[in-house]
Amino acid sequence: MSGHNVWTHKGTFLLAAVGSAVGLGNLWRFPYLTGENGGGAFILIYALTIFAVGIPILIAETMLGRTSRRSPIMGMRHLIKTHKTSRAWESIGWLGAASAFLILSFYSVIAGWALHYTWLMLTGSLVGADAQTISDGFNALLASPGLMTLYHTLFIAASALIVGMGIHKGIESGLRIMMPALFVILIVVLIYGIINGDVGAAASFLFTFNISDLSLEGWLQAMGQSFFTLSLGMGAIMAYGAYMSSEASLTRTAIAVAFVDTAVAMVAGLAIFSLVFGAGLETGQGPGLMFVTLPLAFAEMPFGALVGGVFFILVLGAAISSSISLIEPVAAFLVERFDMTRPQAVTIMVVAAWAMGLLTVLSFNVWAEGTIFHSLFGRSAFEFIELLTNIFMPLGGLMIALFAGWALTQSEVIKELGTNATWFKIWRFLVRFVGPAAVSFVFLRTIPQVEGYLIPTLGALIIVAAFAIGQRLRQPKTSS
Ligand code: PHE
Repeated sequence: MSGHNVWTHKGTFLLAAVGSAVGLGNLWRFPYLTGENGGGAFILIYALTIFAVGIPILIAETMLGRTSRRSPIMGMRHLIKTHKTSRAWESIGWLGAASAFLILSFYSVIAGWALHYTWLMLTGSLVGADAQTISDGFNALLASPGLMTLYHTLFIAASALIVGMGIHKGIESGLRIMMPALFVILIVVLIYGIINGDVGAAASFLFTFNISDLSLEGWLQAMGQSFFTLSLGMGAIMAYGAYMSSEASLTRTAIAVAFVDTAVAMVAGLAIFSLVFGAGLETGQGPGLMFVTLPLAFAEMPFGALVGGVFFILVLGAAISSSISLIEPVAAFLVERFDMTRPQAVTIMVVAAWAMGLLTVLSFNVWAEGTIFHSLFGRSAFEFIELLTNIFMPLGGLMIALFAGWALTQSEVIKELGTNATWFKIWRFLVRFVGPAAVSFVFLRTIPQVEGYLIPTLGALIIVAAFAIGQRLRQPKTSS
């Protein structure tokens, strides 16, 4: 498609990619996973994966978007044609669209909880409440499909509105207001944590590396988390990359995104654990860390209601700047492929993801047990969807790495990357070998843990991938 849109400013891609990367993954998932997995060792694996695997794949995914200047599925089609490689690679686009749709469905439900807590905090409802009251409150929220559906609807509608207004008036302007505000709030919460909490205990929890603390399961979660937090392998970054200025540096931008994303996770971890330790609470609370433990810490501290309210606004803002990046790749595809208007395309994607989200809502109450998901997969619908995305994202990342490193004409790649030969070789070694090896390791360890029909599903996906690679290897070598 000629005349494809480009962001208004050279730096907007960076802003948009940071907006996508920084989200519930940093503020909710990272702290609770770190808490469950004993701290520093988990962070070490997480950071290593980000740098050795995440950044190279981030560069690759952005590059695919920018050279094709199309939405992920159409972009893959275009690259397959121009680089004369196997059509099987188109599955990268489809897998991405499926992951975006699945993630959006549950992401919106969880972000909806933050909406509830923003309200509770700002109205002072939790001031002075004790542990029992606060945890009963959270359980009451989970037990109410109506309330959860209401918040889920509000959140997803707000995201749809932004994307529906277009990449300039909606996404770009929205991010330009939201992102600076989020950084200010994060710093305020950190300072509050330092003053009222125990930052020393938090720092030693986060930065004491004792590798023997880390279970194998924790190791896998750390690697999965690094994909999730960088928004990798599902087209969000590719879709934003399609609008990236040709002048911006791919490598420098990708490194900056990973750096900011990691810094936000660390600062959030430091602030949250300062409050948790300061209030004498436990770190290993799981997903309830943000919704039970943290409100409890705020309940006892001076100005806790106000700062807690501001904190949950931060969570909401970070979540919405990520959820818009989940809508964009699919919406852009529908616009390009079927000539829909943007509002039509956004509506289709969002209504479908909203309906799918009801499965997550019900997984916490009416369908908490005894459903078809429990009998087939041994878990609730929500847990099943989350598991699927935990498989799809690294798989997408793996295929992007292989596609960029092996299938594309390498003389074109080096031109697009615009680096010198040494950096190019380092990058290519990482996407050709290190990334695929790391991801395969995660998969091999995950497979024995999944039961039932999942293994055939996985098998099918792996066959598709193998087919794609085989196709490429049968072809005469282009330049390399
Ligand atoms: N990176 C986001 C977060 O950390 C989640 C996300 C994943 C967003 C994939 C878009 C695509 O919350």
